[in-house]
Amino acid sequence: MLNKTKVISTGMITLIILFSGSAYKFNSFQNLFKPGKAQAEEKPAEKKEEIFPWKFPDEEKIPALAEGDYILYGQKLINETSRYLGPEVKNSKMRFAGSNMSCKNCHLAGGTKQNTAGYVGVYGRFPQFRVRSNMVETLENRINGCFERSLNGKPLPLDSKEMKSIVTYMKWLSTDIPVGAKVNGQGLIKIPFLARAASPESGKKVFQQRCMNCHGVDGLGIRRGKQGDSEGYVFPPLWGKDSYNTGAAMYRLMTAASFIKANMPFDNPDLTIEQAYDVAAYISSQGRPVKPGIEKDFPVLKFKPVDAPYPPFNDDFPPEQHKYGPFQTMLKDK
Ligand code: HEC
Ligand code: HEC
Repeated sequence: MLNKTKVISTGMITLIILFSGSAYKFNSFQNLFKPGKAQAEEKPAEKKEEIFPWKFPDEEKIPALAEGDYILYGQKLINETSRYLGPEVKNSKMRFAGSNMSCKNCHLAGGTKQNTAGYVGVYGRFPQFRVRSNMVETLENRINGCFERSLNGKPLPLDSKEMKSIVTYMKWLSTDIPVGAKVNGQGLIKIPFLARAASPESGKKVFQQRCMNCHGVDGLGIRRGKQGDSEGYVFPPLWGKDSYNTGAAMYRLMTAASFIKANMPFDNPDLTIEQAYDVAAYISSQGRPVKPGIEKDFPVLKFKPVDAPYPPFNDDFPPEQHKYGPFQTMLKDK
C-alpha cells in the first residue's frame, strides 16, 4: 500500500517535472519519498564546489623536514629576491631579476596573504592552460613569467637550485591541498567594472593623500639601504625604471585596481572601488620599462583581456580605452 502510494506520487511528480523541464527539481522532490539510507546512496543532483580554507603548515617545523633546506632557501628567494638574484648582486651570473623589487612586494608576506595571488595551494593549480601564451604552463613557467615581467628580468634555469627551492617552498605552502582545489583567497579579489573611464587626474590626488608617504613623493619607492647594496626596498617603487615592466599583470588596470583595493594603503586598505581604479590609472600613466615582444602575448586574440593595453587589439576601441576603460561596453561587443 505504502509502496503503491509512493510509485503514484513519484509518477505524478515526474510529470510535473517534465512540464517544468527541471531534472534537478525532480531529484530533490523524489528524495522526499525515500527513507534516509536510500537518500545517502542517491547521487547528489548538484555538486557544490568545495573551497578549501587558506591554511599552511607551521614554519617552525620546516628544519625537521627532509626538504627543509630547499624550503628555507626558497622562502628567502621570495622575500629577499634582490639580495640573491637582483641586478646588484656581486656574482653577475646570478642577476636574474632586472629590478631590485622582491616577489613578496606583491605576493605579500611571502605569498602567505590572501588576495595577493598568494602561494597557498598554487602547487596543485599547475600545469594550467593560460591564454597569455595559449599553452599549458608549468609552475616553473609561471614563476619565470613573473621573473621576466614583474621583476623585469630573465628566466631562471629549470634545473637550478633556485628554481627547485622556490617550487619546493610553494609545494610546502600547498601541503594537504588537493590538486586542482580552489582555496579561499587565492588569486586576487573580483571587483566590479567602473561605468566611466578611470581618471589618472583623480588618481594623482589619491596617490598624494594615501600612497606618497610610504612609496615616496616621486613614487619611486624608498630603498632599504643605498644604491648598489642589493638590499631592495622598504617601500617598493610604483613606476620608473626599477619597477615592473609593461608585460606584467600589474600593468593591467583591473589587476592593479583589485590588488590595491584589497591591500593598499598597506596599513589600512580602505579605498573605494573608484579610488582604487583612479589611483591604478595614475600609476599606469607613469613611465616604466617596456617588455619587448608583448605583441606576441595572447596569440588567440579574441581571448586577450580588454584591459591588456597594448596592440594588437581584437576590436576598434581606442588604445586609451583599453588602458583606462570603461570596459563593460567593450565586453558586450565581443
Ligand atoms: C609587481 C608585482 C609582482 C611581483 C613583484 C611578482 N609577482 Fe607573481 N604575480 C603578480 C600578479 C598580479 C599575479 C596574478 C596575475 C593574474 O592572476 O592575472 C601573479 C601571479 C603569480 C603566480 C601564480 C599564482 C596563481 O595562483 O596562479 C606565481 C606562481 C607567481 N606570481 C610567482 C612569482 C614569483 C616567484 C615572483 C618573484 C620572482 C613574483 N611572482 C613576483 C604580481 C607580481
Ligand atoms: C603604510 C605604508 C604604505 C602605504 C600608505 C601604501 N603602501 Fe603600497 N606597499 C607598501 C609596502 C610595504 C609594500 C610591499 C609589501 C611588502 O614588501 O611586504 C607595498 C606594495 C605596493 C604595491 C605592489 C608593489 C609595487 O611596488 O608595485 C602596489 C601596487 C602598491 N603598494 C600600491 C599602493 C597604493 C596605490 C597606495 C595608496 C592608495 C599604497 N600602496 C599605499 C606600503 C604602503
